[in-house]
Amino acid sequence: MSETEFLPISGTDYVEFYVGNAKQAAHYYQTAFGFQPVAYAGLETGLKDRASYVLKQDKIVLVLTTALTPESAIADHQKTHGDGIKVIALTVDDARKAWKETTQRGARSYMEPTVRIDEAGEVVLSGIHTYGDTVHIFVERKNYFGCFLPGFKKWNPAYRPSETGLLYVDHIVGNVGWGEMNRWVNFYANVMGFEQLISFDDKDISTEYTALMSKVMANSNMRIKFPINEPAEGRKKSQIEEYIEFYRGAGAQHIALATNDIAKTVEQLVQRGVEFLQVPDSYYDTLNSRVQGIDEDVETLRKLHILVDRDEDGYLLQLFTKPVEDRPTLFYEIIQRKGARSFGKGNFKALFEAIELEQSKRGTL
Ligand code: FE2
Repeated sequence: MSETEFLPISGTDYVEFYVGNAKQAAHYYQTAFGFQPVAYAGLETGLKDRASYVLKQDKIVLVLTTALTPESAIADHQKTHGDGIKVIALTVDDARKAWKETTQRGARSYMEPTVRIDEAGEVVLSGIHTYGDTVHIFVERKNYFGCFLPGFKKWNPAYRPSETGLLYVDHIVGNVGWGEMNRWVNFYANVMGFEQLISFDDKDISTEYTALMSKVMANSNMRIKFPINEPAEGRKKSQIEEYIEFYRGAGAQHIALATNDIAKTVEQLVQRGVEFLQVPDSYYDTLNSRVQGIDEDVETLRKLHILVDRDEDGYLLQLFTKPVEDRPTLFYEIIQRKGARSFGKGNFKALFEAIELEQSKRGTL
């Protein structure tokens, strides 16, 4: 086993949001994104302080949790941050070892290794803190055969809008404060054994007004990719600063969800009410000269506002939603990779100009 493999991770286990109203948030993810109901825990299962809804689409699992009382860490989190991501859970083979290896390397413990058992088997959970109030929970579920985790019951409502072709979490981006990027890059390198894939600086990612710096950290099998952004000095307030101001600190900025047919997926999402950022039409006039040899029809991409970028391995198609809550914080990326392993650097300028247009409408530029 190499030095970097002290923490083998087989994938993103689930992403848990703390929200103001989990019942309604679950309805949104069903209706707008086509997530399927899986499991529920709340008053009916013996919980007194919270309710959680578990939704799934292919490999993507979302958990929406709300507080049932004001005296609650969940309520505090929601009051401070608004609806946002609390847990990025990672599937591991050995949650006790994951906790030991990471806390020994300096991680702050969030949950000591804990065994949860029900009639469907046994799960071991442990957790550490990462940026802001966000945490990683290590999930060892090789001896569990239930619908989600012990304590949850199957949730089987009649209402089941169809899926939209979303397959897996491609990456989850964290926004951190001024001068904090390298601290968290070092955390993922030293505490979790990740390696740096790419870095962007303010020369790559700046428009007239906004600037940011970013480094992408990935685990050894590349299933976990965490870009970390920090604001850079620009003429006006950057989108990262806007996020940090409204989220009241560092947090998860966007989740990129992969599809095998981005035009079909985006067309359905638009029909279901998901709002996407729109780059200027002129973006498509130069597309053929910038990115040659793509399979997709440029007119279809133009109609759906889908962006394209190429790197040495291939190309990718991507599109970003507007924030999915009232605070301009969390949003989604829809991505289809056709060989490319990068993150769409060629689109940053057009994209950030589209974001700035939204910022100026909010009066936060
Ligand atoms: Fe992204």
